[in-house]
Amino acid sequence: MLLQGKVAVVTGSTSGIGRAGAIAFAKEGASVVISGRNKQRGGEVVELIKQQGGKAHFVAADVMELGDIERLVKAAVDAFGRLDIFWHNAGIVGPDDIETISPESYDKMMAVHLKAAVFGVKSALPLMREAGGGAILFTGSVAGLKQSGFSLTYSLAKSGLVMLTRKLAVDLAKDNIRVNCLCPGRVQTGMRSEISEERAQALGITPEEWEKRDKKRIPLGRFVTEQEVADAALFLVSDKASSITGVALPVDGGFLAV
Ligand SMILES: NC(=O)c1ccc[n+]([C@@H]2O[C@H](COP(=O)([O-])OP(=O)(O)OC[C@H]3O[C@@H](n4cnc5c(N)ncnc54)[C@H](OP(=O)(O)O)[C@@H]3O)[C@@H](O)[C@H]2O)c1
Repeated sequence: MLLQGKVAVVTGSTSGIGRAGAIAFAKEGASVVISGRNKQRGGEVVELIKQQGGKAHFVAADVMELGDIERLVKAAVDAFGRLDIFWHNAGIVGPDDIETISPESYDKMMAVHLKAAVFGVKSALPLMREAGGGAILFTGSVAGLKQSGFSLTYSLAKSGLVMLTRKLAVDLAKDNIRVNCLCPGRVQTGMRSEISEERAQALGITPEEWEKRDKKRIPLGRFVTEQEVADAALFLVSDKASSITGVALPVDGGFLAV
């Protein structure tokens, strides 16, 4: 098993990509700390992992609260005795541009994606050093590598994660800690439905029609699945990627290649 004996914290694992990733990590032997604000969905993920013979523990945490992030990371050691993998995956979307941006929308987007990543790593670092090294992963987006027509603040925050990945990969190499960033394209999750509805409404078409048009921009002609992103995450945090650090990996069906 790829992650036998490892302990992972996954933010935003109550649904979507994080949920699929946490289940994949547990199947490969990791003990996983599931996290998000929704206790019911978090509990369901833990139950599912346990039914499959894996180990999981839920911690309710809002990544906008730095105290919650610190508590979350420490819970890994309390529950499972160590910390090897920290994946900051929690995210939100919301349409904005230079006309509609507000100080509140800006602060929220930066807090959930970037500030939580920075201070999550700061909290996790001493524990990962104690474990002799490990892997850090961020969920970025193709919107952090190519400007998004949908959201100015989302693109800004996700591009910040790419630079954070590079900076930390260099700084933490001496600690045997690898740092990488997944950059998904269109993945069929709750977040994607939200985006399709917003885009469709703006154009006066149905979400189905919008998604049909959107898929034409993807060389593989379809959205990415949660499982495909989870598989990429599993690879990046496992020893199969032992010489890969500082990378922003698109998982996008070829979207960025066009
Ligand atoms: N879907 C896509 O097409 C796509 C494309 C590129 C990148 N991404 C990125 O992939 C990541 C996962 O998104 P998804 O598509 O899987 O969407 P999702 O199903 O909506 O999942 C979002 C997750 O983030 C958590 N979250 C949101 N705000 C939070 C907060 N303040 N504190 C703690 N947890 C919070 C949610 O948990 P609770 O509701 O329990 O708090 C949920 O578990 C995000 O970073 C997103 O930007 C998605």
